[in-house]
Amino acid sequence: MARRTINVLMVAAECLPYAKVGGLADVVGALPKELATLNVKSSIVMPLYKSINRRTYTISKWQSRVKVLGLHKSYEVDIYKGILPASRVPVYFIAHPTFLTTQKVYPNGKNEIQKRFAFFSAAVVALMQLMPQAPDLVHLHDWHAGLLPWFMKKQGISLPTILTIHNLGSQGWWDMKQAATFFEDTSGLKTRRGQLNFLLNGIASVDHITTVSSNYSREILTSEYGEGLERVLIGRRKQLTGILNGIDYSVFSPEKDKNLFATYNHTHMKGKYKNKTKLQKQLGLNPIDKPLIGVVSRLYPQKGLDWVVDIMPDIIKQDTQFVILGTGDPKLEKKLKTLERKYPDSAAAVITYDAKLAQCIYAASDIFLIPSRFEPCGLTQMIAMRYGSVPVVRATGGLKDTVTNYQIKNSKPTGTGFVFTQPNTTALKQAITKALKLYTNQPKWKQLRTNCMKAEFSWKKSAGAYFKVYKKILYTKY
Ligand code: GLC
Repeated sequence: MARRTINVLMVAAECLPYAKVGGLADVVGALPKELATLNVKSSIVMPLYKSINRRTYTISKWQSRVKVLGLHKSYEVDIYKGILPASRVPVYFIAHPTFLTTQKVYPNGKNEIQKRFAFFSAAVVALMQLMPQAPDLVHLHDWHAGLLPWFMKKQGISLPTILTIHNLGSQGWWDMKQAATFFEDTSGLKTRRGQLNFLLNGIASVDHITTVSSNYSREILTSEYGEGLERVLIGRRKQLTGILNGIDYSVFSPEKDKNLFATYNHTHMKGKYKNKTKLQKQLGLNPIDKPLIGVVSRLYPQKGLDWVVDIMPDIIKQDTQFVILGTGDPKLEKKLKTLERKYPDSAAAVITYDAKLAQCIYAASDIFLIPSRFEPCGLTQMIAMRYGSVPVVRATGGLKDTVTNYQIKNSKPTGTGFVFTQPNTTALKQAITKALKLYTNQPKWKQLRTNCMKAEFSWKKSAGAYFKVYKKILYTKY
């Protein structure tokens, strides 16, 4: 019997290749492609930010002057449409000059981000009514889509919903007095201490919730990781599933990657060394054979990079080099630049977002640091492993699910990296020192590196798990 197609509408703030700030974009850009192999037809909807080049991606106007309901006054949007590259997945882009079509994905003016994503959800409801085929299921991502179920209900649309929490650290808070001026009415909206919380509203009203790793789905039920929402999440634990993200092998494969100076695989590693020397030269580091430690990250406290900054001088003294790529907290950016000036031969800090350079860093580095305070999934450790850069991670969230600590078992090295537990610089330093020690024993190091490169993190398994949850929501009643 032919399997019935499931139509899913993904609602997200970011999607690769159009707009990326964090890992959310990678997930939304990759998952629909893999779901297609399971007869799940996805569409994606996101804002048409000004930074998205319509010509590059062949995005054209699909509907003009579509009415958006549920807000304090009537608004109109234009809806554009394109196709996700290397797929048949339609992508809808909602345009509005004040609320959506501005340069930054996450604006920082007062109330701007809240208005953006409240408006976006209201507009998605308008899109739903125009789609050639109504979705069977609506898949929301993060707090940005948290109010969508409430808007749907207001407009009498009843469709099953699933919410993926990529990061509980951002919830979308809005002073209710301010919020009230933006909506037609606020009945049924959940608040906390006089504040509207987008994510809380989503969590409380969807049919199912997922997080981006199993470990994180358990962690968020505790006060340590629950960010104040642990009780609500405990109340919904029967409808909570952890599904580990994958990485897109069509983008992240050292044997095919066109961004690299040279390609390689775990049996032919020469290219990796070439990448190292070339990158050292490009970034003005001394091109000699020392362990090169890489970091590709948003520079936020979540990521534990303040610890990295603190220990960098000591680690550099152990005859190593650092290359760090990312943007974020201006204080951290400044500290990294100061370190770069102090150790010009051994430290390079590139303060930008650059996907090509990121891939060269995965390929060139020997060791990769992800010392996060919390990490719902984390993609960079998986990418680093694929490129043969051995990860040093904290045992939290998805990092714990994806990296196993190096050990000798029956005189064979097992594991895929170095895992530390305590959230402090001492523990991080110890883990890096262990990695550096093993690096001096090249045969063992190479075995560990091969373990990393052979680990499997494709989207296949994850898409299968989402498929299972979709079927559960659609065909069973809780
Ligand atoms: C967020 C999380 C990160 C996760 C990503 C994709 O950025 O912080 O851990 O990998 O979303 O789900």
